[in-house]
Amino acid sequence: MVNKILKKTEVLRGFIHIPTESRFELVGSIHLPCPTMLNGKPARLDKYGRLWSPYLKNRFSIGTRIELTKAENGYQVALSKSEHKSFISKMKQEEVMSVSNDSESETNVYYKVLKGDCLKYLDDGAINNIHLTFLDPPYRQGKDYRFFDDDQPAWKYWSWLKEILHKVYDATASGGAIYFMQREKKAEHVLKVLRETGWKFQNLIVWKKKTSAVPCAFRFSKQYQIIAYATKGDKPRVFNKLRIDLPTLPGHKYERENGIFLTDVWDDVRELTSGYFAGDEAIRDDKGNRVHTQQSPVALLLRIILSSTLPGNTVLDPLAGTGTTLVVAYQLKRNSIGIEIDPEHVKVIKNRLKSLRPADDISKYYDYYRFTPNLREIWPVKRVITEQRRLL
Ligand SMILES: C[S@@+](CC[C@H](N)C(=O)[O-])C[C@H]1O[C@@H](n2cnc3c(N)ncnc32)[C@H](O)[C@@H]1O
Repeated sequence: MVNKILKKTEVLRGFIHIPTESRFELVGSIHLPCPTMLNGKPARLDKYGRLWSPYLKNRFSIGTRIELTKAENGYQVALSKSEHKSFISKMKQEEVMSVSNDSESETNVYYKVLKGDCLKYLDDGAINNIHLTFLDPPYRQGKDYRFFDDDQPAWKYWSWLKEILHKVYDATASGGAIYFMQREKKAEHVLKVLRETGWKFQNLIVWKKKTSAVPCAFRFSKQYQIIAYATKGDKPRVFNKLRIDLPTLPGHKYERENGIFLTDVWDDVRELTSGYFAGDEAIRDDKGNRVHTQQSPVALLLRIILSSTLPGNTVLDPLAGTGTTLVVAYQLKRNSIGIEIDPEHVKVIKNRLKSLRPADDISKYYDYYRFTPNLREIWPVKRVITEQRRLL
C-alpha cells in the first residue's frame, strides 16, 4: 500500500504518480504502459508509473492524503484513514453524527450537525475544503424565527450575509461552488454581495415553484425564486451536465428520445406548501402543523448536489433548517456539515437523519435523470425504483 498526498496536477488531470520506492510493490515487473482497473473502473499505467483514470479527475481535493493498494483486478484508492480521522477530530466528537462504514460503498461518508451560530463555526477554521455550499437564509419577511430577527434593517441583514459569504469562500476548495437562494426582487443585492466577496457568478437560476403566483397590484404577479450559482475561481472543479426527462410540451410533436440538458430555468420542482398542494414531504408535528415553513424540497437539493459534486466530496449548509441538504448529501454518498442555530430544528435534523422517511428517499427520482451520461458515476445506487419517471 502507498500513502501519499495528491498534487494539483494529479487532481486536475486525473492520475496518481506511484512513488519510485513503491513501484516494485505496486507495479512489480509488469511491462508498462498497460491497461488496468481502478476501483472497478478502466484505468491505465503509463511508462512513468502514473496511474491514469477519468474516475480520478477532481475526485479528491488537492493536498488530500490517499491510500493506493494493489487489488486482484487492478488498484483501489481511498481517502487515507488518518486523513478521514483528522478531519473529523477537528470537530468535537459528539458533533459528528455518523460515519458510514457501508461495506458496499467505496468511500466513508459522514454528516455533522452543529448547533449554534454559523459565523462562530466558520470563524474557528475547522470547516475547510468544502466543495459545495447551499445558502438558504431567512428572507427578512417578518417571519417568526425563534433565533433570528426577520424584521431587521436591510443594511444589517445584507452585511450579515456578506460575512457568511466571505467565510464560506475562505472555507471552500478551489473551484468549489455556492448556490445562494433568495427572493427574485433581491437579485441585484445577491449578485453584488457575491461579487464583493470574491465569488465568480455563473448562473441565475429561475426556480418556478409550481405553486400559485403571488398577486401584485402594480406589477406582474410573482411566480419564481432565484438561486444564484457561483464558484471560487473562474471555472467549477466539477460540473455534471444533467439530462432530465421532461414531458412533451404542448405543441411539440414527438417525445424526446433521450431527454434534455437541464437549463437555468427549473420549473419541474414543486415547493413544499400547506393546503391544496401539500404532500408528505413537509415535516409536521403531532397536530399536523409544519415544523419549518421554509423546508426545501429534496428534489431541489438533489439537483444541486448532483450538478456540483462527486461522491466523497463535502457539502456545507450553514443555515440548515430541517437538514434537507444533509439528508440528500448522505444518500448521494457526499459528506455534509449542517449548522443550525435553533435547537428545535437541530432535533428535527437529527431525527430526520436517523431513519430515512419514504418522502425523503431520492431513489424515486433516479429514472428522471437516466439520460445523464455519467449518472452511474455521480449517483451511487444499490437499487433503482422506476415507479416515478417524472417529477411532474
Ligand atoms: C430558510 S431556513 C433554511 C431551510 C432549509 N433549507 C431546509 O430545507 O429546511 C434558514 C434557517 O437558518 C437558521 N439560522 C438563522 N440564523 C442562523 C445562524 N446565525 N446560524 C445558523 N443558523 C441560523 C434559522 O433558524 C432557519 O432554520
